Formats: sequence, C-alpha cells, structure tokens
Amino acid sequence: MLRVVILGAAAGGGVPQWNCGCPVCRTARSENPELRSTQASIAVSCDGEHWFLINASPDLRQQLTATPQLHPKQGQLRHSPITGVILTNSEIDAVAGLLSMREGSPFTVYAHPRVLAILKSNSIFNVLGEKSVKRQPIEVDQAFEPTLPDGSPSGIKILPFEVPGKAAWYLEGQAHPAGADGAGDTLGLRIEDKQSGKYLYFLAACARVTDDLKSRLAGAPLVFFDGTVWRDDELITAGLGSKTGQSMGHIAMSGDHGAIESLGRLDIGQKVFLHINNSNPALLNGSDERKTLEHAGWKILADGTEITL
Ligand code: MLT
Ligand code: MN
Ligand code: ZN
Repeated sequence: MLRVVILGAAAGGGVPQWNCGCPVCRTARSENPELRSTQASIAVSCDGEHWFLINASPDLRQQLTATPQLHPKQGQLRHSPITGVILTNSEIDAVAGLLSMREGSPFTVYAHPRVLAILKSNSIFNVLGEKSVKRQPIEVDQAFEPTLPDGSPSGIKILPFEVPGKAAWYLEGQAHPAGADGAGDTLGLRIEDKQSGKYLYFLAACARVTDDLKSRLAGAPLVFFDGTVWRDDELITAGLGSKTGQSMGHIAMSGDHGAIESLGRLDIGQKVFLHINNSNPALLNGSDERKTLEHAGWKILADGTEITL
C-alpha cells in the first residue's frame, strides 16, 4: 500500500503570499481561509511508519505540526517518522525546509549531484551535520530504493528522470556550482510500492510535456503535476510581475500544449495539480478556470489530504 500526504499544494510564496494583494491572496486572508496553502511538498510511505518527504518546503515546520502521520512516536523523547528527503530541484521552495530539520535526528537527503553541489556551496546547510544527515547522490534514469534507519530496504522504488526545466531562480546569470551542463536540475519522480506495484508520478516543475513524458505518464494510477499558472502570461496581465510561466520553467495549465491538453488522453487514474501559484484563478472555487480543470478530470486538493494507492 502506497500512502501519500499532500503537505503543501502551493507554489513558491504560498497562498496567501506575504506581500500579495491579488484576489486569491486577499480572499484567502479573509472570507476564504480554506484557500490557504503551503508550499509544495508531499510525503510518501509504504509501511505507514517510515515516511519520505519529496522536497522540503520553507513551510515544513508548519506542515509537520499539521500532519499527525509525521509526528514523533508516542512515548519517545526524540523521534521522527521522516526517514529521508528526496529533492527534485534546488529552488528555495524545495530545499529551504531542510534548515528546519537541524535538531539532530538522523535522515538521508537524496538528490542529484547538481542539487547536492548547491547545498555544499551554501555553508548554511552545514548545520545538517554529516553524522546524522547523510547526503546520497541519485542519478537520472537510475532507480534507487531509499533505506530505513537500520539500513534495510524501504520497499519504495524511486526512478528519477530529467524533465524540461531550468536551474534555480537565484542562480540566474550566475555560475552553477556544478558547472554549465543543465541535466539534473529539474527531476520528475516515479515512486512505486515494490510489494503492490502501485505507483505515482511527481512533477512539481515541468516546462513542457514531451512525447517521452507522455509515454511515461500514460496509464499511471496517480500523477502530481506542475500547476503553477493557468496562463503563461498571467503574472504580467494581472500586474503582479514581469515573468512568464515559461521563463520560470513552468508549463501553463490551459491552452495549446498546456498541461490539461497535453495529459488529456493518457488514461491517468488521478490527476492532481501541485505547485499552484496564488495568481492562478483556478484556485478560486466556482471560477470558470476551476470548472474547466475539473471537467477535464483534474483536482486541486487541500493541504493534509491523504491518498492511498
Ligand atoms: C519556481 O518554482 O519558479 C520558484 O520556486 C520560484 C520561487 O522561488 O519563488
Ligand atoms: Mn517553485
Ligand atoms: Zn497573490
């Protein structure tokens, strides 16, 4: 049995974002607190006892407080069910939460060497001492099985693969500590319970749906997919910023070659948008965009929702 908890469904900034007065952020602060959402991350487990985080968002502390599945075991003075953290990129909203896990409990960080190079080059992450927090390189197209605290296999098989994307925002115009070759900056994950064979895909960032990606996702029981923007230029037209979704490495939900169209005929069991920016009108219940998305079989789920496969 594969258990998944959505720790956060929002993109960088969350909902509401601290400095934003857009319609979604305003209503999330007042009439519609149910729209509040923390920055994107999920937790997965196949024994219900040991959990792996997929990315560590800046909201991790709040997410852990709100998620009973991830609380310390009754009767133990120091304990965490979090056994490992798998990183799919090095954006702030994917790695900053590691700094909230600095109190000495053991776990392993699994990440591509390009992401590990960024952690290494930022001395603030040295707070995660090597004795308790191991850093394990993962490679594109090489499946791995994260281990339990006693070194035994977890029963979860994870296949990282390259998806169209870009290096982290804060590296724009700067040398990447791992060199110029971009492969490995943005990963998708296929996560499988070895015993049942049930699996899901996780893609919090994806700039484009390629034919290769379509054939991977076809027939999957569950896909979490990049839902940053509804339209590529929505930040600009709403007067919120100057960036397009594409310039940030994110595909739009709508339009030709958008996520809804591209994943439309792939016979996917459950399609869930994740990493949804507060500018995205589909966040508003009852909006035309939300109706279109739901009509196409997609869901936007609240933080804390658990799905079992
Ligand atoms: C992104 O996904 O484009 C980044 O997380 C942006 C950000 O850090 O706010
Ligand atoms: Mn992000
Ligand atoms: Zn906003």
